[in-house]
Amino acid sequence: MKKFTDLYIVLSTIIKNHTTTPHPRILDLGCGPGLLSVEILKQIPDATVIGIDPLIKMLLLAQENTKKSSVQIFEPVLGVSEKIPLKDNSIDTIVSRFSLPYWKQPHDSFLEMYRVLKPNGKIVFEALNRNFPKWKLFGIKVGMLLNHAGRDVTKYHADAYALAHTQEEVEMYFKKSGFAILEKQGTNNEWKFLIVAEKK
Ligand SMILES: C[S@@+](CC[C@H](N)C(=O)[O-])C[C@H]1O[C@@H](n2cnc3c(N)ncnc32)[C@H](O)[C@@H]1O
Repeated sequence: MKKFTDLYIVLSTIIKNHTTTPHPRILDLGCGPGLLSVEILKQIPDATVIGIDPLIKMLLLAQENTKKSSVQIFEPVLGVSEKIPLKDNSIDTIVSRFSLPYWKQPHDSFLEMYRVLKPNGKIVFEALNRNFPKWKLFGIKVGMLLNHAGRDVTKYHADAYALAHTQEEVEMYFKKSGFAILEKQGTNNEWKFLIVAEKK
């Protein structure tokens, strides 16, 4: 569990470094149970984090988790990336982690992220790497089963890779939607990659 928390801490530090406005409005798109939102609010206490997810049960968990950490403002919003229920130019920073495989229309979603971001607003985008070697993925699967992660979780993980994108595909989505790419992290040998982009 500690290992997972560390991943969220590292990512929220990157978000903090790219969020320079006071009292920022940060969108966690596909927030799931809100574990990243919790860490963002710990590191940027004057932020409002808006967590969007299409599943009510995830939003309820996110609300519970953000409350437990007695963090400041978390606003759960039911919605999808393809039609973000927020106003134009209303968000300082967007973060999205591991949600892309489930987006039915990625190009529309990138245009939506562009629409809701303020000019010069940033996106910190983390995605599973479709090019991650199959033999390494198999090793992770075996490790998960040996560590009693459960068949459901292991299958969910494998299915997500089957739907995942390559870094080149994600860069193309960013560029076609008008973003400038500022930073990239990750190689084809790693299980995930990160892209930071800016609305020009
Ligand atoms: C693997 S979870 C990641 C959760 C969280 N970002 C994290 O890293 O802990 C993917 C999340 O994306 C959500 N999701 C699925 N389709 C979506 C869509 N079209 N727009 C936004 N979120 C979506 C799912 O409900 C799920 O909570």
